[in-house]
Amino acid sequence: MFDINKFSSMDTKDKYDLMLHYLKSLITGNESKITKLANASALINAVVGRMNWCGFYLDNRSFLELGPFQGLPACTRIEYNRGVCGKAFTTKKSLKIDNVHAFEDHIACDSRTNSELVIPIIKDCVCLGVLDMDSEDPARFTDLELEYLEKAVEIISDCIF
Ligand code: SME
Repeated sequence: MFDINKFSSMDTKDKYDLMLHYLKSLITGNESKITKLANASALINAVVGRMNWCGFYLDNRSFLELGPFQGLPACTRIEYNRGVCGKAFTTKKSLKIDNVHAFEDHIACDSRTNSELVIPIIKDCVCLGVLDMDSEDPARFTDLELEYLEKAVEIISDCIF
């Protein structure tokens, strides 16, 4: 059983260290990629909090296609280099956008979103997709969270892809 209350009284670093520990144990079995990504998105969404969307876009060799996620229905297709997701995918660099309305090419799937964090999933120097996190709060994501979520994506890359 997953107990979210464990996380609520912890300081930020302990909380994210525990999240990484849970993440590893959730995705090291022999379940399918979809199953593991679904649980990874649920864990990250629950622990990070204050997000209106958290999930994956995966490369299908033609464009980025919607993968497992938590949140409202979203665009199913993102072209390479388009939007925050497409840019992070093409450049293989994380993008922390404090104000999505100031990001020229932002793709608005949910009009409530104000800030966004996108982290590329890289395996053997190849980008395979992205983890996308959206929040209604402006400048929601901290540098420390970026650091931990990049570690989470490394674990996802090692265990799932
Ligand atoms: N905002 C993203 C699109 C995906 S949704 O927000 C779920 C972007 O600009 O790439």
